[in-house]
Amino acid sequence: MLNIAVLVSGRGSNLQAIIDAVEAGWLKVRIACVISDNQEAYALKRALKHNIPNIFITPNIFFSKSEYEKKIIEYLREKEVGLIILAGYMQIVGSTLLSAYPNKIINIHPSLLPSFPGLHGQKQALDYGAKVSGATVHFVDKGCDTGPIILQVGVKILDNDTEESLSKRILVEEHKILPKAIFLFAEERLTISGRKVHIID
Ligand code: GAR
Repeated sequence: MLNIAVLVSGRGSNLQAIIDAVEAGWLKVRIACVISDNQEAYALKRALKHNIPNIFITPNIFFSKSEYEKKIIEYLREKEVGLIILAGYMQIVGSTLLSAYPNKIINIHPSLLPSFPGLHGQKQALDYGAKVSGATVHFVDKGCDTGPIILQVGVKILDNDTEESLSKRILVEEHKILPKAIFLFAEERLTISGRKVHIID
């Protein structure tokens, strides 16, 4: 069975969606560990509650991003991780981690990429006056939210939407497409050619 690691920084509702899919039995992966760069992340409590090994590793005590990522890789190797999920992980992945896990890191982002990458994707869409936004699951490359797209879903923006109301509706979709993308990866149904991800039927 594929061992996955979930990297988090905060609330962990996407982590919870993965846990729920695994516990429901349709997502056949093992959540081998949860790694947080934030000691206070509620995601760590979710991991504890479900007996998932978890660790807090702060980049602040390392001389460089590379040293920080080497520490993460050491832990990932120990847990025999084959796929990394960024679920609300607020660090840009560096070349050390990327080359240790090429095409084996997946991120969830709260907009229809390539629109509104980076922080506060939902607010960016609202401020821009977009009529539709959504959620994207993609492989991670060296850019910020630029890697090959696996799944996307659109969410209509309503006239009276606030950042909070839009984020809430987008989150509902995130919780569906992230476990689904992990399922497809675990079933070896994703192939990448250039920027395109092909989903094998
Ligand atoms: C989610 O909306 C996720 O898409 C976003 O952070 C939130 C984390 O929520 N990620 C990014 O903005 C990454 N650029 P969660 O901790 O409840 O899963």
